[in-house]
Amino acid sequence: MSTPKNRYSSRAEYFESLEDVPVNPSPEPTLGDLINARFNRRTLLKHALGVSALGALASSPLALLAAGAEHPVPTAPAGAAPDAAPQPATRFGFTEIAHGVDETHHVAPGYSADVLIRWGDKVLADAPAFDPATQSPAAQTKQFGYNNDFIGYIPLPFGSDNSEHGLLCINHEYTDEEVMFPGLGQYDEAFTGATRDLTEIEMACNGGSIIEVKKENGKWRVVPDSRYARRIDALQTRIALSGPAAGHERMKTAADPEGRTVIGTVNNCAGGITPWGTYLMAEENFHYYFLGDLDGHPEQANYARYGIPGKRYPWAKFHTRFDVNQEPNEANRFGWIVEVDPLDPTATPVKRTALGRFKHEGAECIVNGDGRLVLYSGDDQRFEYLYKFVTAGKVDPSNREANKDLLDQGTLYVAKFADDGTLAWLPLVHGQGPLNADNGFASQADVLIETRRAATLLGATPMDRPEDVEPNPHNGKVYVMLTNNVQRGADGQPGSDPANPRDANIWGHVLELTPAGGDHAADSASWEILVKAGDPADPGTAALWNPATSENGWFACPDNCAVDPSGRLWVSTDQGGAWSKASGSADGVWALETEGDARGTGKMFFRVPVGAEMCGPRFTPDGKTLFVAVQHPATDGTKDYPGFNRASTFEDPATRWPDFDDKLPPRPSVVVITKDDGGEIGS
Ligand code: FEO
Ligand code: CA
Ligand code: CA
Repeated sequence: MSTPKNRYSSRAEYFESLEDVPVNPSPEPTLGDLINARFNRRTLLKHALGVSALGALASSPLALLAAGAEHPVPTAPAGAAPDAAPQPATRFGFTEIAHGVDETHHVAPGYSADVLIRWGDKVLADAPAFDPATQSPAAQTKQFGYNNDFIGYIPLPFGSDNSEHGLLCINHEYTDEEVMFPGLGQYDEAFTGATRDLTEIEMACNGGSIIEVKKENGKWRVVPDSRYARRIDALQTRIALSGPAAGHERMKTAADPEGRTVIGTVNNCAGGITPWGTYLMAEENFHYYFLGDLDGHPEQANYARYGIPGKRYPWAKFHTRFDVNQEPNEANRFGWIVEVDPLDPTATPVKRTALGRFKHEGAECIVNGDGRLVLYSGDDQRFEYLYKFVTAGKVDPSNREANKDLLDQGTLYVAKFADDGTLAWLPLVHGQGPLNADNGFASQADVLIETRRAATLLGATPMDRPEDVEPNPHNGKVYVMLTNNVQRGADGQPGSDPANPRDANIWGHVLELTPAGGDHAADSASWEILVKAGDPADPGTAALWNPATSENGWFACPDNCAVDPSGRLWVSTDQGGAWSKASGSADGVWALETEGDARGTGKMFFRVPVGAEMCGPRFTPDGKTLFVAVQHPATDGTKDYPGFNRASTFEDPATRWPDFDDKLPPRPSVVVITKDDGGEIGS
């Protein structure tokens, strides 16, 4: 089997590169002409360090950068010169680990990082033991899925803050056939070697797992035979559609003439947990699963805007609903946020259409001061947008049932950034502005089904791939991970703007939003750049970090993030196949200071094995446990892994993490991190 493009190590990497090809046909004219207005010396200093640090750092590298010096923000070396100013202290007490790449994972000294559950491990009590040589769809529907991404933690009993017993809600994003199936290698364009069984194993590998976990004698374990244990997948899980698009003509299919029930959910990337203890699964790259031809297709423009058909998987060969020509509306039924009640394994999951249809990275939320819920979500593609949804009703903290359909009514907004450090949240409401019949929107259902096109008409700001967006309840701010955008400034593409300030941005950046008046439902916010990722010692990156950041403390390609119970920010990265160019180090978890003189200082805490990305950071309420998801070990960028320098296969992977057993392939796994002295993570 051949790789689609030989320079890529895996199909995951190749298809990720296709995301470089923007499908946004009419991006808002950029704010490029207005650049620099905001990036004067004073602003930069204020952003990075806080006003109080201005004096102390008048001759610092950062100050030189701000003043227009040629070499921006060199890394402060470990063991700084004797006459250097004292380094500002962060709130993170651990000893950081070093950049690097090898076959296994690493965590800061004094911590333990143990594998909790792996692809193929039992979820349901009657699941068979994992055997890659005899894997079947039936087995996979009962076992832990592939490519674990989002992790949510719900204490048990519900309503408590129990940090030693709870449910983990874990997303499974996609599959990597070349390291999953013996003798297959990477699919070619004709999907040679694909079978119905392999397809259905893949379908059962998407979705989510709910497992019960308990800490006993200092170690976490999965509770066997839990009454909460559940698999949600793309093969057999019935999912209801609700909200304005449910039942619409464009949602109806031969198998579902009512347009109200879908089989399955796909590409479940990040997500969220609501205050009433439901689990939100974001459907991200849903276009991957469709085959067919858009010529003359009734949804041609709509589908093209989402990259459908993505032709990454062979599913349509065996399940014709994934063929856009045989089932023209099926692709309208993916790209939503799915709400699951993990406390009731018989509850039907629901796709909440009011939250819009796009490549949702996640759906983290906060209860606003007025009691309404506000959910933030990025659309992860180059030049796509940042969204929020504000519920019409208020969260009822005393009656779980009363919140059951809260996500069906509310307002979806998209962000338009201005050069003066503010942004406007523009409502995507049918009948307002251009969202009318003249532009092909007959109803709110049409606006939601074609959320991207509606947002473009409103003039939303094209961003550098918005990934996780997380509100911090401790300081009221919102952190936006923008992972990268190599196409920024390319021929025919938007150039840099104040909120996306670098062309050919292979490193990404982190924005900090401050809602107006502390009101997450407000129609405006202010924003600042917290860090511009990449190596601050390399002038070519134009990175921006606090100079206190060490040579290991900087990262590239922020993807997921977590706010810990103390209100501190942690960031995980996904450089994909570009790791060797972006940082030369494997992905991992970094602490990122947001407050005080050390604001903008990173510190490396955890590192993944070669070829993996880091997902799902999630703390228990006591801050003493951090769950992380190691996704797709041995796949991305292994052609650049010194000494290996080739694409991985099942038989010949770059690493066999976490088992290191010659009979077993590498396996995506959830890792649980605790401090050996029993203290808080990062203390
Ligand atoms: Fe699935 Fe955008 O990461
Ligand atoms: Ca992600
Ligand atoms: Ca990612």
